[in-house]
Amino acid sequence: MTQSLEGKVALVTGASKGIGLAIAHRLLTDGASVAICGRNQAALAAAESQLVRDFPAARVLAVQADVSKLAEVRRLVSSVQDRFSRLDVLVNNAGVGVFRSVGDLSPEEWHAMLDTNLSGVYYCCHEALPLLKGAGSSFIINIGSLAGRNAFAGGAGYNASKFGLLGFSEALMLDHRYDGVRVSCVMPGSVDTEFGHSGTGKPWKIQPEDIADTVAHLLAMPERTLISRVEVRPSMPAK
Ligand SMILES: NC(=O)c1ccc[n+]([C@@H]2O[C@H](COP(=O)([O-])OP(=O)(O)OC[C@H]3O[C@@H](n4cnc5c(N)ncnc54)[C@H](OP(=O)(O)O)[C@@H]3O)[C@@H](O)[C@H]2O)c1
Repeated sequence: MTQSLEGKVALVTGASKGIGLAIAHRLLTDGASVAICGRNQAALAAAESQLVRDFPAARVLAVQADVSKLAEVRRLVSSVQDRFSRLDVLVNNAGVGVFRSVGDLSPEEWHAMLDTNLSGVYYCCHEALPLLKGAGSSFIINIGSLAGRNAFAGGAGYNASKFGLLGFSEALMLDHRYDGVRVSCVMPGSVDTEFGHSGTGKPWKIQPEDIADTVAHLLAMPERTLISRVEVRPSMPAK
């Protein structure tokens, strides 16, 4: 299921690799102009080169920005407005995971997760909402996790951020549904990326393109309908 996104503009955070890059590629394929961000300039530039090999450079914008920093999010959203004059789709994908027991988890690691996975999403939504409301019919898609409903040992910081994100996402949906802004939370299980240094190449894992496909399905729903939460699992996880 897909729909033409021609003339639409999307912002995908944390899109220098992994799920975010796959989503950016898919939205460009479907016709949108796409802005991406990440903290590491070299990784971001490599992602940008990859995208402009496949799509017109005029439809791609890469902005170095750390979503855990409000000033950088403000600059990011202003860059999107300056370049494209509108925003139709915000995909809050940037996220980090450090998996240790609470006793071993440092305050810095705790803050890295909460500040990016939760506060970063709030910052992006807060700053982008004026543009999204102005678009008439727009979307915020938050990339949560099955770890947002299922706690596990070593996951306290990550679980807290993703449980929080699910609650935030559902309240956001209720707050802004009558502004023409639809909000979904996509909650994947294990995806084949470098996330949390888990290593790639495991054939049973969900592929980043499968999550990009999920996002495309959500965007293709008729305007009257909203899928507000999606749990995406590997069908046969390693035992
Ligand atoms: N992989 C999984 O199994 C899995 C499962 C469920 C949910 N998720 C969620 O999916 C999302 C994407 O994960 P992934 O697997 O694609 O991870 P990934 O391969 O590690 O990619 C993460 C991306 O986010 C960027 N990023 C991290 N912190 C950022 C920040 N503060 N500001 C801006 N960009 C930032 C990274 O670039 P820089 O480091 O250069 O900033 C990178 O581009 C995350 O929210 C994650 O929690 C992943």
